[in-house]
Amino acid sequence: MIERKCPAADQGEAAALDYVRRAQESAADIPGMPVTDSAFRPAQAAVVGAGTMGGGIAMALANTGVPVTLIDRDIADLERGLSRIKANYASTVQRGRLEHSVAEERLSWITPVADMAAVADADIVIEAVFEEMEIKQHVFRALDRHVKPDVLLGTNTSALDIDAIASATSRPDRVVGTHFFSPAHVMRLLEVIPGAHTAPQTLAQAMSLGRLLGKVAVRAGNSNGFIGNAMLFDYRREAHFLVEEGAFPSDVDRVLTEFGFAMGLFTMTDMSGLDLGVESKRKAIATRPQDRRYTDLGLLPVDLGRLGQKTGAGWYKYLSGDRRAHRDPEMDAEIVAYSARIGIQRRQISDDEILERCLYALVNRGAWLLEQDVASKPTDIDAVYTTGYGFPKTKGGPLYWADSVGLSKVLDDIEHLHAQHGVWWEPAPLLVRLAREGGTFTGLQQGEPK
Ligand SMILES: NC(=O)c1ccc[n+]([C@@H]2O[C@H](COP(=O)([O-])OP(=O)(O)OC[C@H]3O[C@@H](n4cnc5c(N)ncnc54)[C@H](O)[C@@H]3O)[C@@H](O)[C@H]2O)c1
Repeated sequence: MIERKCPAADQGEAAALDYVRRAQESAADIPGMPVTDSAFRPAQAAVVGAGTMGGGIAMALANTGVPVTLIDRDIADLERGLSRIKANYASTVQRGRLEHSVAEERLSWITPVADMAAVADADIVIEAVFEEMEIKQHVFRALDRHVKPDVLLGTNTSALDIDAIASATSRPDRVVGTHFFSPAHVMRLLEVIPGAHTAPQTLAQAMSLGRLLGKVAVRAGNSNGFIGNAMLFDYRREAHFLVEEGAFPSDVDRVLTEFGFAMGLFTMTDMSGLDLGVESKRKAIATRPQDRRYTDLGLLPVDLGRLGQKTGAGWYKYLSGDRRAHRDPEMDAEIVAYSARIGIQRRQISDDEILERCLYALVNRGAWLLEQDVASKPTDIDAVYTTGYGFPKTKGGPLYWADSVGLSKVLDDIEHLHAQHGVWWEPAPLLVRLAREGGTFTGLQQGEPK
């Protein structure tokens, strides 16, 4: 059992907060990256895709006074996107956070155009179309025909291969992952993902873009899910296993928010939209390895037409005009029936088990990502989780928290989970080494062999 109140909470919330601040600042230190002009500022930007993310990214740019051309397939898509942007500004004005005249001025920086050729004078183009490789490649082929030679090309993909996207252009050195978080004009995290051919100067400019937009930009390696979502995959997998085995989404979310998360995992995914990435997931089912348990629980609400907050129902239900998640007995009954269909006898799941499986999934994957150099330093992982995923800053981030629990206890518990639940829980060799040597994640120096 993990102590629910971790030592850091008692001994040093202030120390944890200070650590998070330093972690966020040090994310910009990337060995070998050219020093860029801190006044880097595109004179003109373009965003392709006027959906949830494209609209938010256009707002983030307009909010710093950068003119943005917002491109989508047709007028109807643009009108939908623009009305969402207008509604966002209107609600900020209504809440007294922005002057009406400032909102109007920012809105005037965004020009909607249903023609890809409108990227011609952009210094930066950020793509935020559907999460489908063929569509992204189609868009990048088109961009390649119209953009200036020295343009910076960013893709907002959540998990796709940057190299495969860049290969659709004649300038892979100018392509980089720029992974914003939803809502993009509010959330401060930006993962910057260089591909195999991304030039150092391109990486440096993308990191500067983050700074310009007031974000915490963190470099992440080009592997499935980068840093944040790779960890989320494991964390979500365990949360879904727990629900298949006997917990309800509201149990998992309660335990996570009691720990200090800004919101529970199921509430969070209801907010982002449960259909996100679902088609790729369905396609992957046929080819996934047979050596481990998988969960398709995420398809259940989608198949029931419950796509999250936007449809008034997901894991929870939502009343009109109220964004709060309400437990829905109908959905819980669907979950019970689902467990029966996949042959699982539901059992009572303790809060300790929920917390242990969710948090250790984050810690172990974080250790693997360091080992594989997807994250260059432990502080980057903690900066990502506290800035973009609602991990409590007072606990420093998953790796800082693991250090406070003690890595030998963390390893013992993970070995136990490995024995019980199999291959997903193979402990990361870095964790094993640090636990045996009495080391800590936060004691690791950048560049130290892992
Ligand atoms: N929603 C999130 O929480 C989130 C978070 C981070 C990253 N992302 C990523 O951002 C990207 C966009 O996601 P979203 O949630 O904004 O999707 P969305 O469905 O809200 O918007 C996608 C937009 O792209 C447009 N589009 C599709 N094909 C196009 C084309 N060929 N040319 C021009 N426009 C085209 C669509 O008309 C639509 O307006 C995806 O890659 C997604 O994985 C999403």
